[in-house]
Amino acid sequence: MNLPSLEDLEHELGGLAGKRVIFRGDYNVPLKDGQITDDLRIRATLPSIEWLQERGAELTLCSHLGRPKGPDPEFSLEPVAARLKELGITANLLDNLRFSPGEDANDPEFVRSLADGHDGYVNDAFAFCHRAAASIVGLAEVLPSAAGRSVGGEVELLDQMLSNSGDNFIAVLGGLKISDKLPVVEALLSKVDGLCIGGAMAFTFLAAQGINVGDSLVEESMIDKCREFLESDTPIHLPSDFVAMASTGTLGSPDDTPVQVCQGEIPNGWMAADVGPDTGAEFSQLILEATTVFWNGPVGAFEDPRFAAGTSAVADAMAESEAFTVVGGGDSAAAAKEADILEEVDHVSLGGGACLKYIEDGDLVGLKALRNGMK
Ligand code: 3PG
Repeated sequence: MNLPSLEDLEHELGGLAGKRVIFRGDYNVPLKDGQITDDLRIRATLPSIEWLQERGAELTLCSHLGRPKGPDPEFSLEPVAARLKELGITANLLDNLRFSPGEDANDPEFVRSLADGHDGYVNDAFAFCHRAAASIVGLAEVLPSAAGRSVGGEVELLDQMLSNSGDNFIAVLGGLKISDKLPVVEALLSKVDGLCIGGAMAFTFLAAQGINVGDSLVEESMIDKCREFLESDTPIHLPSDFVAMASTGTLGSPDDTPVQVCQGEIPNGWMAADVGPDTGAEFSQLILEATTVFWNGPVGAFEDPRFAAGTSAVADAMAESEAFTVVGGGDSAAAAKEADILEEVDHVSLGGGACLKYIEDGDLVGLKALRNGMK
């Protein structure tokens, strides 16, 4: 995909020395007790920031953090400012853009207030490019604009992955609800050569085949849709065994030991919360034999060590595979980090929703806005 680059912006502005550039990162980072627990999204913007500053540009950095309803100290970008400083970046960072309703509404007046006093705009916030926000779409419409290195890199690697369609391209999808993943399942079925489904969403597929899943989560309203998916020409691999335990609507006591049960044999009153070892081995084999693998969503409730083995098996196979391996953001990136495989895979997308949306549509509103500015 052809996006305006930092070099294009430099050219358009006749050099960057003394030019004031508003720079949009996605600094929506996880925080615990006010401390950043993963700064990957911050570090991803450093190459662009450093490149711009080396050429004398004066930067105003901006981002959202969380979903505040208005100004709220809990959602302040202070910890991000401190981290940027530790990483050697000195620049003005605006506070959370979502403190104003104008950000999500792409309000023209808010856009003007952000653009005011700036000569150019850089979008290095891939994870936010699916939002038609003021700092994503609005700014690209009113200022000479460029995609930052992180946005350019994400798009290039996702395009590379999608272009491998038809060449033993496997996707592994997990997560709680099939309703959240409908569009991406639909899109992937036309692109991949096999789809492995784990996580709670597998139960709706099994229920669609009339297979008993005990008290495991089933989305009744999605059963017909799952049946339709199962009739597609693309093989869908569902778990053949599970790790389950007796439930009272929840996963029972943390001291209880879950057991392995085969597909169709989860007793009523029991709930499965991970794929079993046979499924872990089958999914791993498919990943090892593939030429391209996309993984999004843990295949079990991996935050609980009793239900982490299936997700670990997928992560280990991703690390070991010779395939071109891509981890979709969000929970799967967290699982990849937990399994310590971030360095072993070819790409970990910084975007959760944005990555899935890109796979679905092959484009994002924020990227379109950058391209429109090129005309
Ligand atoms: C993300 O973390 O996926 C992005 O920053 C988007 O955040 P949002 O879903 O709150 O808009």
